[in-house]
Amino acid sequence: MKGIILAGGTGTRLTPFTRILNKHLLPVGPYPMIYWPIFKLRDSGIKEILIVTNQKDLTFFKEILGKGEELKVKLYFKTQKTEGGGIADALLSARDFINNDKFTVLLGDNLFDDSLIPYIKGFEMQKSGARVLLKEVSNPSRYGVPLLDTEGKKILSIHEKPNQPPSSYCVTGIYMYDKNVFQMIKSIKPSYRNELEITDVNNLYIKQNLLEYEVLKGWWIDAGTHQSLFMAQKHVYEYFLKEGKND
Ligand code: G1P
Repeated sequence: MKGIILAGGTGTRLTPFTRILNKHLLPVGPYPMIYWPIFKLRDSGIKEILIVTNQKDLTFFKEILGKGEELKVKLYFKTQKTEGGGIADALLSARDFINNDKFTVLLGDNLFDDSLIPYIKGFEMQKSGARVLLKEVSNPSRYGVPLLDTEGKKILSIHEKPNQPPSSYCVTGIYMYDKNVFQMIKSIKPSYRNELEITDVNNLYIKQNLLEYEVLKGWWIDAGTHQSLFMAQKHVYEYFLKEGKND
């Protein structure tokens, strides 16, 4: 299986840093943020990884990461045609990289403790369709929020940044798709924030009864704001302290 890390976007919630630096290159512990999703894919056995970023940021990523030799992965790079065009738009740039295989997508600012191995295994056993990972959060309105059926077996719909969240879960930026995702992206229209929303794509999978889900067990954060970036730093250094590691 191949992996994709989406590392574009405008990072407006992290200004003024993001006026000059892509948010995925900001520090989280001793590494730029982008290292962590690379580690997660690598440690689950995914060694071929495509990074999708903005044209203006590409040279920085290449300079820091090279072709992935140091991190023991094989890295490829693509740029998103429309900066700020949304997650689904960025994913379209990965079409040639994927061919016909199923694949895993990580949003580069989603940091988490769980190993991806059991989730990927679950997806490999799934005949077709897509799989998302949920996490219970205190502020679901900031995210894509699932409405679950009464037995909690299925997601009935996903609502992007709802004022009245239909559950206390968020859909994390850990997604698994089959090749049909590209056709689905082509069929959706930009949202109120003028982005091609991954939530709209996931809702299409739901309509076809092809979206499965699991709930992340451990710590998870979307490090896209000043406060959550601080929390991510704190989490890493608390872990290092516990392990007696100095960076
Ligand atoms: C995006 C997705 C949202 C998801 C979140 C996870 O939000 O649109 O559905 O819950 O990532 O981090 P954004 O970061 O674009 O606000």
